[in-house]
Amino acid sequence: MPSLEDVLSTSNRNFLMIAHRARSDGKIHLNDLCGASGRWDGVARSITSALFLSHDMRRDTSIHILLMGPDDPPKLLSLNGASIKYLNPDERASSALMKKCLKEDLPPTNGSMIRPSPGVTITRSGLEEIISAFTGPIYYLHENGIPAEQQLGSSSGDEPLNFILSDDMDLEENEESIIGKNSDKTISLGPVILHTHMAIVVIHHLLDMVKSTP
Ligand SMILES: C[S@@+](CC[C@H](N)C(=O)[O-])C[C@H]1O[C@@H](n2cnc3c(N)ncnc32)[C@H](O)[C@@H]1O
Repeated sequence: MPSLEDVLSTSNRNFLMIAHRARSDGKIHLNDLCGASGRWDGVARSITSALFLSHDMRRDTSIHILLMGPDDPPKLLSLNGASIKYLNPDERASSALMKKCLKEDLPPTNGSMIRPSPGVTITRSGLEEIISAFTGPIYYLHENGIPAEQQLGSSSGDEPLNFILSDDMDLEENEESIIGKNSDKTISLGPVILHTHMAIVVIHHLLDMVKSTP
């Protein structure tokens, strides 16, 4: 099994989404992703935005979802664009695959890890450990940060970059404090507040533009 550091450094683009209510125990209701599943609709959309292109996958990207909802948190669900299989872009199908993965037994000990499907790992880790295991700069996304295009404009697009986003809720005080202490910069995509999956698409776009500029 890889280490947490390995999982978090396989890709150049890493998105960490803190999903405060998303069910962590696999009891995802496919007919009620939004309510009874704890906003799994937003998690599924973020997975699609992070990993899918029109006719391909973003093989340089991983998305890591810190599941804090009932009944077995915290769990870090990581999907790697280079090795993922059986993933489809629609919310119901991706949630069904993740439901199957989350039903697999994960020992309760901190640091335990399973690989329930190709390209998917589930780790028992908290926010502080996750952030300290990242390689490369860590950016927290918030509307009140410095302009993202200014910060990312100097990136080559080929080094590991890490982006932390919340779900539909504001960060809790302790999360804010951990991120404040451990991240490099807070970056903004403008004054308008976007959904998490939309913010992911804008970050991809900015990095795609940096990479395509000679
Ligand atoms: C729906 S927002 C979070 C809830 C938000 N505080 C609200 O009032 O609705 C989802 C996440 O996307 C990112 N985000 C949304 N709009 C952004 C912006 N304009 N600049 C940077 N990040 C943004 C942030 O990480 C945010 O936590």
